[in-house]
Amino acid sequence: MWRATIFTLFPEMFPGPLGLSLAGDALVRGVWSLEAQDIRAHGLGRHRAVDDTPAGGGAGMVLRADVLAASLDAGLTPEDKRPRLLMSPRGKPLTQARVRELSQGDGIVLICGRFEGVDERVIEARGLEEVSIGDYVLSGGELAAMVTIDAIVRLLPGVMGKEASGAEESFEGGLLEYPHYTRPREFEGRAIPDILLSGDHAKIAAWRKAEALKLTKTRRPDLLRDVKTEVAPKKG
Ligand code: ADE
Repeated sequence: MWRATIFTLFPEMFPGPLGLSLAGDALVRGVWSLEAQDIRAHGLGRHRAVDDTPAGGGAGMVLRADVLAASLDAGLTPEDKRPRLLMSPRGKPLTQARVRELSQGDGIVLICGRFEGVDERVIEARGLEEVSIGDYVLSGGELAAMVTIDAIVRLLPGVMGKEASGAEESFEGGLLEYPHYTRPREFEGRAIPDILLSGDHAKIAAWRKAEALKLTKTRRPDLLRDVKTEVAPKKG
């Protein structure tokens, strides 16, 4: 079973949306498991303090290294080799390639930051890898953790139907996905492109590839640097 363990100050946020729909069904079926550990259980003193003011001064609070380390050490065994991801806007951007890789392992450990940041020493000492889900700042890592888990879980064997083995969707092959159409044949004066109704599968594949390329060029030219596939469909 693929296992997700989350270290958070808000364990009651989980499973949240991960308990519904595709991920929720898979959770109930035992395809994956979710465990939320409350960092505050290792907080200090009567108030179970977990944070303190930043060394060197400045705004905000920093999650203490000793508190987070104690929480991780109590909740994980030394044999646990799952990647430990610290959700942070400062992290390396999460990509579909990394999501796929993580779906092929035993699971992940996710650490959700709050406050201004996490003491650098626990990041180093416990081998935490900082991961960002995008160039914007959330109020905490919990939603980022849910996004990360959702993206991985849908790729686990037996979660999606065959229609979305993932091979044709956005980012696979380095392109955004082509436009989709379904009935009715005409909607408010807009017709489905003729080629999609032609039954010519080679032509349809070529059209979709060209549309995907066009869309990627206008919306995400940065992705095209990495496209290694050819533009024309394979002959024969
Ligand atoms: N925590 C706050 N902002 C974040 C982001 N963009 N990605 C991951 N974790 C975060």
